[in-house]
Amino acid sequence: MANSRSGDSVTERLVRVLETFTATRTVQTAAEIGRRSGLPISTAHRVVNDLVVAGLLERDDDRRVRIGMRLWELSTRSSHALRLRQAALPYMERVQLRVREHTQLAVLEKDEALFIERLSGAESGSNITRVAGRLPLHASSSGLVLLAYGTPELQERILQAPLVPLSRETITDAGVLRRKLAEVRTLGHAIAPGYIEAVSTGVAVPIRDETGAVAAALSVVLPRDAAPDAALRELRRAAADTAAALGYRR
Ligand code: PHB
Repeated sequence: MANSRSGDSVTERLVRVLETFTATRTVQTAAEIGRRSGLPISTAHRVVNDLVVAGLLERDDDRRVRIGMRLWELSTRSSHALRLRQAALPYMERVQLRVREHTQLAVLEKDEALFIERLSGAESGSNITRVAGRLPLHASSSGLVLLAYGTPELQERILQAPLVPLSRETITDAGVLRRKLAEVRTLGHAIAPGYIEAVSTGVAVPIRDETGAVAAALSVVLPRDAAPDAALRELRRAAADTAAALGYRR
């Protein structure tokens, strides 16, 4: 890949441009992209133009730029996340219908929990997860499941890094987190009361793929003091049905 004078490759420049888009910043001018990407303004303009010509970005009548449908199409159609999401969706809907609280599907991505689906009802309570949003592994119920069944290298990396609190009840002590992960493996689920927000409790279970490896976490966000038993029953059933749909036979 050809390098610029600053040493970054064409791909790195593309990624820097695309990363300036966020859940709340979906439309920008090329000048704003230039500033936020840290690229020289002429480089940013050229990269944006190339991406518009390729259809990966789209320009509106005011010459403002947004992520193109072509980029969504290319990244979605063959993605592993989509296969997981499609297998899980009918069972997530059943959980949502019965528990009537937010229901999420998350995968491990670069040491964080990345949410690939979320179903919410009109009466569901507080929830900070977003589709294509991330939460720290040590703080969320889904993250705790993904971490507990992750590799020893992943666990050591997270245990040795600063455990940044999201609320007053987030686990910030490595010894406490180590014991919590052991508990998750023993029980087969994670309960995270107030770890993210004082008003809610995350409850998560693992989903296995065709090989039996934990591929995702399925969770609900309950009001803080709700009993988790009924939700756990629904989550376990949905996780087993999803694993069967993915080809896992126990
Ligand atoms: C959790 O999974 O623990 C969780 C996620 C989002 C919230 C609260 C808890 O808003």
